[in-house]
Amino acid sequence: MIDRLYAQYEERLAYDLLERRDLRAEWRRQFGYVFDDCQRSMKLGRVVVNDDKVALASLLGVSTALSGISLEKLTLAWGEMFDVFLSGLTGFGAGRLLPVGRTQLALTAINRSVVERGRISSVWYEKALIKRLEGLRTADRKRAARELHDWFGSNISLALRKLELHDLTTESKEGFSRRHIEDLHSILGNLFEGVRRLSSGLRLQTPVSNIDRELRSYVDAYGLDLTDVTIFVDGDEADVPSHIRGEVFLVLRECMRNIFTHAGAGQALIMLQLSPSRVCAVVQDDGRGFAAQNGAEGSTTGSGLISMKERIRALGGTFNITSMPMNGTRIAFLVPLTDGPHDLA
Ligand SMILES: Nc1ncnc2c1ncn2[C@@H]1O[C@H](COP(=O)(O)OP(=O)(O)O)[C@@H](O)[C@H]1O
Ligand SMILES: [Mg+2]
Repeated sequence: MIDRLYAQYEERLAYDLLERRDLRAEWRRQFGYVFDDCQRSMKLGRVVVNDDKVALASLLGVSTALSGISLEKLTLAWGEMFDVFLSGLTGFGAGRLLPVGRTQLALTAINRSVVERGRISSVWYEKALIKRLEGLRTADRKRAARELHDWFGSNISLALRKLELHDLTTESKEGFSRRHIEDLHSILGNLFEGVRRLSSGLRLQTPVSNIDRELRSYVDAYGLDLTDVTIFVDGDEADVPSHIRGEVFLVLRECMRNIFTHAGAGQALIMLQLSPSRVCAVVQDDGRGFAAQNGAEGSTTGSGLISMKERIRALGGTFNITSMPMNGTRIAFLVPLTDGPHDLA
């Protein structure tokens, strides 16, 4: 009897409520518990609901929330459960499930049992949803912090550098100065574009067509004579998917920025190897170095190193930093492009 009734119930349930096997089993169990409550109430002649079993309906709330199923579907499912019991009692075959005349008590028991389950499951649905949203918000905040640091920070320091150069050259070299002002315009334009994208919730990154060229123009634009920068790119950029190119560029640019702002290096070297199976990079300077902990957390106040590491890890790669005070800094990372073992030497 109960099985036939449950089969009717499944037919009415939204497909995604039954898609996962554990969810489906839980609906079946809850259906049985409601039936038990009904039978027990009939036996005792008053409405009783087994609270311990009702509490288990929280599982359905949590599972549906985590599966991305709407609260509306969950609520409707409980409504359908009541309807199926109702038609079992009053429709065809009435009197087989329960003695006629006691339908009133049976219906009250079923109603209480189902409504209480609906309540518990929706309370837990909300709890699970809030937890899930908090998780998403944290991930989002981390991403936003990364983008702000790498995109805005980089452009702003470039703009400031340009202004410094402008101040130095305003009186003496008119043409040179005008060029810096033009650069400043395009840098500030970039910043503005970044703000626009951030506010519309899009990713901040623009596609990088050629890492080599973009890096060189960044190094040129920075205009520091103190550090002699060598960029060596081996391989074909077309082998590397564009979103990975973008991330690799941001990491390398961040390395360069640290060298310009902190290292006081005479020489800096960027080596980038691109192949269909992996991207491998080493950035080395002979500057003042610092007491780096590998992984860089906790050791410093900045977020540049942390964000570099996060970007590479997010691509499934490995990131390695070695630095000693007065002994230069070396950053190496590797991003696998196809499956297979990859080691960072
Ligand atoms: N190439 C480098 N040479 C010397 N010191 C560095 C280098 N890269 C990073 N550092 C040190 O690590 C710190 C943290 O760097 P980072 O996380 O990029 O933050 P920020 O650059 O904003 O300070 C820097 O403040 C600096 O002291
Ligand atoms: Mg930095």
